[in-house]
Amino acid sequence: MSPCGAKYTRVFNITARLAPAFATQSGIFAMAEAKIAILFVCLGNICRSPMAEGLARMRFDQAGIAAEIDSAGIGNWHEGEPADRRAVNASWKVLVDLSALRARQIQNSDFERFEYIVAMDNDNVTALEGLAGTEHVAKISRLLDFTNLADRQITDPYYGGHDGFDQVVARLDIGIAGLIRHIKEKN
Ligand code: 4NP
Repeated sequence: MSPCGAKYTRVFNITARLAPAFATQSGIFAMAEAKIAILFVCLGNICRSPMAEGLARMRFDQAGIAAEIDSAGIGNWHEGEPADRRAVNASWKVLVDLSALRARQIQNSDFERFEYIVAMDNDNVTALEGLAGTEHVAKISRLLDFTNLADRQITDPYYGGHDGFDQVVARLDIGIAGLIRHIKEKN
């Protein structure tokens, strides 16, 4: 059984995200739950952002926060491919299963759909700012902007060895903890 579940939308329970119930002639209904929607973005969507997606699904689940979590790449070179084997292995060491994930390129509709567009490095941010309409630019950040680390970049491990992927997992985890803290404070 996968510890982090399927790629697409999962609804986790959190009372803080429940809209208030309201009364009508036919009874009391809870309004639809407003989920936080987060898109992690890197260059190829086979290393950093799928690792972020898988780890965030687990951490948000553990934190009890309802979230729609997805990932995408700036480029389309790896469209439809599974995550890089080294990313799969490094993630599995922290009990995150990336086997169901497939790469996809970011689409214009993603800027409407997601509340947080979370990039890995400065190049991703520059590319995203060029794609986003002005009304959506404020949604773009780097994951490590949610931390107090001096170095806010999660650099591409693609051309390195296995150690680089383990280091990416560790930095992602710090960033995701910061993102969860930020969301809790905001809600
Ligand atoms: P990612 O790593 O952006 O973390 O998925 C990369 C994977 C592949 C390529 C670049 C970056 N590539 O050029 O094929």
